[in-house]
Amino acid sequence: MQKGLLPTALAALLWTQFACAATLPAHDVTKDFLGRGQIHLLNSSNFNTACPDDRIGCLNGHGMLTLNDCAVFNRNDAIPSFPTNLGTAAGNCSFRDQDMPRNTDSYYGADSFAWSCGGKNIDGLDEYYYTVTGFNYPFICSGDIRCYYDIVGKAPTHHSPPMPVWQFFWGGSQMDIEAGHWRVILLWVPLAKESPGGAVA
Ligand SMILES: *[C@@H]1O[C@H](CO)[C@@H](O)[C@H](O)[C@H]1NC(C)=O
Ligand SMILES: *[C@@H]1O[C@H](CO)[C@@H](O)[C@H](O)[C@H]1NC(C)=O
Repeated sequence: MQKGLLPTALAALLWTQFACAATLPAHDVTKDFLGRGQIHLLNSSNFNTACPDDRIGCLNGHGMLTLNDCAVFNRNDAIPSFPTNLGTAAGNCSFRDQDMPRNTDSYYGADSFAWSCGGKNIDGLDEYYYTVTGFNYPFICSGDIRCYYDIVGKAPTHHSPPMPVWQFFWGGSQMDIEAGHWRVILLWVPLAKESPGGAVA
């Protein structure tokens, strides 16, 4: 099926319904990471096999993990260079908001803050987000090739409070995700075409 031939709204609907095992046509995912979209969280530690079916939740307007409170995120087009920042109606998003919880369970991430949008004193120029040509889907990377993220190891429910999402840090003293946490991936789910270039190619 050729997505380019479909109305964008229908294409966006089909986007979320790919089967994991399907072989995807070659597709430049950097062209999808534009305009407005939702951010879904995939419980996967492998880019090569991760797919929308691995979704366990999505990020809310403050950049925290929920089951279904999926905010609309904007690529911050005010910044003329690529890659650019992300924001919601609450404000710019960042990993530098000191009001957010630290990932104290992590060896290397113990001083890192959970993602937030609309925190005080967050400058959108501080951080940037991008995806990588060759990914099957527009998985979101940040900073210095940080394309995996870290959550406490439980899936959000209708009743759970919003959960923190940290960058994933590793090294010689902690080679993988720390005990009790899950390594996860953030998926950009573009909304229907609304900006020059289009959200769905
Ligand atoms: C999430 O992935 C971990 C492995 O990283 C697995 O143990 C866990 O059962 C998964 N949870 C859900 C809800 O898929
Ligand atoms: C977000 O960051 C941009 C770029 O620095 C800035 O112009 C804008 O005012 C910021 N927005 C908020 C709500 O802080």
